[in-house]
Amino acid sequence: MLFYGNLIRRRVMSPAEPGTAFNGDIAGPRGPQIGRVGEQVRLALPLIDTSLPIPVFEASADGLDLAIWVEYAQDYIRSLLCEYGAVLVRGMSGARDGFAISVRRIGEGDLLDYSNRSTPRSRVDGNVFTSTEYPSDQVIPQHGEQAYTSRWPLVLGFFCEVAARSGGETPLASAAEVLRSLPQELVARFRDLGVQYERWFHPHLGLPWSEVFQTADPAKVGEITAAAGIDATWFDGGILRTRERAQGVIEHPVTGVQLWFNQAHLFHPASLSDKVRHGLRRIYGDRLPRNAFFGDGTPIDDAAIGQISAAFDRHRWSFPWRDGDVLLVDNLAVTHGRNAFEGNRRVLVAMAGVGTAASIAQPATASSQKSSEG
Ligand SMILES: [Fe+2]
Repeated sequence: MLFYGNLIRRRVMSPAEPGTAFNGDIAGPRGPQIGRVGEQVRLALPLIDTSLPIPVFEASADGLDLAIWVEYAQDYIRSLLCEYGAVLVRGMSGARDGFAISVRRIGEGDLLDYSNRSTPRSRVDGNVFTSTEYPSDQVIPQHGEQAYTSRWPLVLGFFCEVAARSGGETPLASAAEVLRSLPQELVARFRDLGVQYERWFHPHLGLPWSEVFQTADPAKVGEITAAAGIDATWFDGGILRTRERAQGVIEHPVTGVQLWFNQAHLFHPASLSDKVRHGLRRIYGDRLPRNAFFGDGTPIDDAAIGQISAAFDRHRWSFPWRDGDVLLVDNLAVTHGRNAFEGNRRVLVAMAGVGTAASIAQPATASSQKSSEG
């Protein structure tokens, strides 16, 4: 996990309390790093907007180039990401052209492809994609990107090419705050058991398996799923069922903070309207296109999903996009979503840096605590 390499060595000792507004203090222990990043970057710093809970950098004059700024200030940006979970950069020139390289720089690795897909997106160029192409009247619930698998991007970059006429914000919510506001027994259950995601791919319903796995060859699907530890079973009529177990809670590799990191509330049928849910049940029975269970296969009840969704609602906040904005997000620490909108919204996404459940410390489970205490 290159992205965290330097930070782990220079551990952030006192991360800000999530949800407290960024205080604009750019001096302090990291001041000297700013001193060496050059005059051009200094120009951007005095205009920090301190009204949001994350640092906001706004170029004070034309000509401050995004890619150059990121190149010089990358250590500082990474430490801010670790401390605040996200950084907003606005008003810089060359943002569209410099977006991909900037995300790559901060994530310290190539941009990631969108594999094992869960939503429709289009490739714009290279591994820059459109954000999820759900109809504009739909709200996309908060989530950590690819938290339904055991392998996830560490850094997300969003580039606002065209802001919506109204709405269309990308709300953010701290995964730590969400976890802390949930009942402890529920958190313990998710931490101990993880989540099992079940998907049934019926012909002509939802995202086809060929798009999820980016191949039309069932044999290739077998190879991809086997390599990813996903159970894949074919049924009559070309129906595919996949089951994948992944984490419910993780520990941030740098801050050590426990984070709610799963997509149970997106996959569970309680996320659907009653009409859609009953319609799907009537036609497909238990073979729903998407479902989420505890990792041992036991059901998650609707009330738990309601508590999780309410926790996200309590902690989500947003800002209005402006054309040319770049938002960098620590994908483990901060969840994102999308508000409904009017107009021609176009927000691009790039992902970099790879984290896996196996590569970071797992939070102690109740059973492992018992055995270590005993
Ligand atoms: Fe997403």
